[in-house]
Amino acid sequence: MAGAPSALELAAGAARRFEAAGLHFGHGTDNADDEALFLTLHALGWGYDVDDATLAAPLAPAQVAAVEALVDARIVTRRPAAYLAGRMWFAGHEFAVDERVLVPRSPIAELIGARFEPWRGGRPVRRILDIGTGSGCIAIATALAFPQARVDASDVSGDALAVAAANVARHGVDGRVALHACDLFPPTGGPWDLIVSNPPYVPQAVWEALPPEYHAEPELALTAGASGLDCLERLLEAAAAHLAPGGQLIVEVGEVWPEVEARYPRLPFTWLAFERGGEGVFLLERDELHALA
Ligand SMILES: C[S@@+](CC[C@H](N)C(=O)[O-])C[C@H]1O[C@@H](n2cnc3c(N)ncnc32)[C@H](O)[C@@H]1O
Repeated sequence: MAGAPSALELAAGAARRFEAAGLHFGHGTDNADDEALFLTLHALGWGYDVDDATLAAPLAPAQVAAVEALVDARIVTRRPAAYLAGRMWFAGHEFAVDERVLVPRSPIAELIGARFEPWRGGRPVRRILDIGTGSGCIAIATALAFPQARVDASDVSGDALAVAAANVARHGVDGRVALHACDLFPPTGGPWDLIVSNPPYVPQAVWEALPPEYHAEPELALTAGASGLDCLERLLEAAAAHLAPGGQLIVEVGEVWPEVEARYPRLPFTWLAFERGGEGVFLLERDELHALA
């Protein structure tokens, strides 16, 4: 009789099953191996710092059953692994997530890690606004990167704001991160030195054809009308009035970036490059937004 499998063997088997089942990987991992390891470690209650000997050691029957249950759930439900685990990492911090919020994955995490340099050019960052905060990941990670700053975060979804509130408390930034239930710009807190946003930008017809994993996420977090630009258009039109002198607007628009360029030929977008992958994030200085007028 074969011996009990190790965590590594279970993860390898899970990856093969994920591939055979045709799962989509776009919510924190981009391949079956990483997805399988994430779920295996979660089921076992282990961190990524677990040593090689433990990973290669035979598991107890209850441990094997826990991993297999999670792997089965991923295949049967097509829910993103982050929802099954109830957590996701973003900009080096862990956030609680569930179906009320988008799974954090914005490349803006990399900008936060660099404190928005070299783009900020050393200018002070005292007030930050995160529009469409979801889990609160951008607002909270930014507050942690700028310990002297005050952060406002808005969302139209009360469900999302409940998740964000739990994450704000978990990271101990209650005193500096204010959550606002509102459309785009909060009525108080501005003007802001930095306005950051990952708004919904998926065209309706594109969303309808997306793999099931995306349909587990709130539609409100992804779709923005037929063009995908409904939210962005209103955001761009009002941004200059909400930015402080020297203020900057940083927005993710993902794969609709060519449509954004075409829609606003007079705006001098700076499209930011990422070492860890991602595209479609622009930066505009407050003064550059005046080209809209
Ligand atoms: C793409 S998700 C981003 C969530 C989070 N910032 C992240 O990067 O993981 C967009 C968020 O914007 C919110 N949203 C949609 N329309 C909005 C609006 N008009 N004003 C404020 N928030 C909005 C959605 O509820 C959702 O939480």
